Amino acid sequence: MKITIVGGGYVGLVTGACFADTGHDVTIIEVDPAKVGMINEKKAPIFEPGLEDILLRTTGKNLRASLSYDSVSTSDITFICVGTPPNEDGSANLSYIESASRSIGTALQAAAGYPVVVIKSTVPPGTTETVVRPAVLASAHKTEDEIGFAMNPEFLREGRAIGDFRNPDRIVIGSNRPRAGDRVAEVYQKFSAPVVRTGLAAAEMIKYTSNAFLATKISFSNEIGNICKELGIDVYEVMNGVGLDQRIGRKFLDAGAGFGGSCFPKDVSSLAVLAVRAGIDPKILRAVLEVNEFQPYRLVTLLEKKAGNLSGKRIAVIGLAFKDNTDDVRDSRSIPVIQELLKKGARIVAFDPMAGPNMKKVFPGIEYAGSSGEALKGADGCLVMTEWPEFGRIDKEFDLMAHKIVIEGRRILSWNGAEGICW
Ligand code: UDX
Repeated sequence: MKITIVGGGYVGLVTGACFADTGHDVTIIEVDPAKVGMINEKKAPIFEPGLEDILLRTTGKNLRASLSYDSVSTSDITFICVGTPPNEDGSANLSYIESASRSIGTALQAAAGYPVVVIKSTVPPGTTETVVRPAVLASAHKTEDEIGFAMNPEFLREGRAIGDFRNPDRIVIGSNRPRAGDRVAEVYQKFSAPVVRTGLAAAEMIKYTSNAFLATKISFSNEIGNICKELGIDVYEVMNGVGLDQRIGRKFLDAGAGFGGSCFPKDVSSLAVLAVRAGIDPKILRAVLEVNEFQPYRLVTLLEKKAGNLSGKRIAVIGLAFKDNTDDVRDSRSIPVIQELLKKGARIVAFDPMAGPNMKKVFPGIEYAGSSGEALKGADGCLVMTEWPEFGRIDKEFDLMAHKIVIEGRRILSWNGAEGICW
């Protein structure tokens, strides 16, 4: 099929590349000329394992990037994959969605047949129906008999997005006309995952609910972890026992420094704002965010208990990305930790295998080390903030420290001299 993807960010690029890899003809529209250039030169503008291999196989054959909306009019289907960043009140900013919808509509003036416009971006329930549909139809001067609309959320984890795309647990397709939904189902013909067909708003809500539930599992586990810590119990032993109950499941019960990234914090906040607007007090969602907000400070408190006053002390912060396998620092739990350490007058030396350059944009004034060994040399204390598997092997490097005070925010070290945040 002929597919256009609007937005060459994380979701758009992974989706476009993976669709091309399954044999579809894909054009990615992106406003940033530098990104367009990179994609067309088979280089991935973001770090994602396996992505560049796909670009090497497909770019110049059945995948290309472009600044123009020309391909929309001849595409069977156009996916909107632009960002929905948070407004100041936590609600989702839909301005990129609106402008993409208008540009798609204008391009569809010239279209024949029954093109279908699909929202992949995470949007509040009702957005496809009340924002996208009217904007596209008004700019195209067409009716809903001539253009179809659908909602098809993504469930891609950064760092594991290619695998998640190829082996989804389910494919959710929301539409208000079966014909539009059928077109989306055709794109996924080669996938064996169960297909869930719903209305537009239900598909939008499935995405918000999935992320809110996963975030809830994490905050719940962190709260139990905080209790366990006080009672001298290892929360990982507890969750291993609890998670074997198939009604609960073991995944996303890893207690630690809390959740970061571009999705969970933003989506839970946005859902909470939606709830309030609908007249519902979102007690659970608020608690999920509150536990997450507080969790990083526990690390600093534990460090102070062991190291005393932090003023003038050299503290190594190991792990800056919001999780392993990515260079993304958005809402990383390292950010509030570094802020708090700076407030207390600590001298920080930070290290991450990939995310150093991105964190430098947030904290240009702190010291960055080229390796964990370099960061630990002479350090009075160390906080481990990201679950990079390679941190499991830094045991010997703790000998380089002035004092072997190590607080673990993620359960990753094999060294048993560290103190865990919840264990
Ligand atoms: C998430 C969703 O998993 C994905 O389906 C959605 O489409 C986008 O948002 P992502 O943000 O890339 O993906 O990462 P994820 O692996 O879900 O982790 C999010 C955060 O939760 C990370 O900071 C991670 O360290 C933390 N986490 C995860 C925990 O603290 N404990 C866990 O058990 C799992």
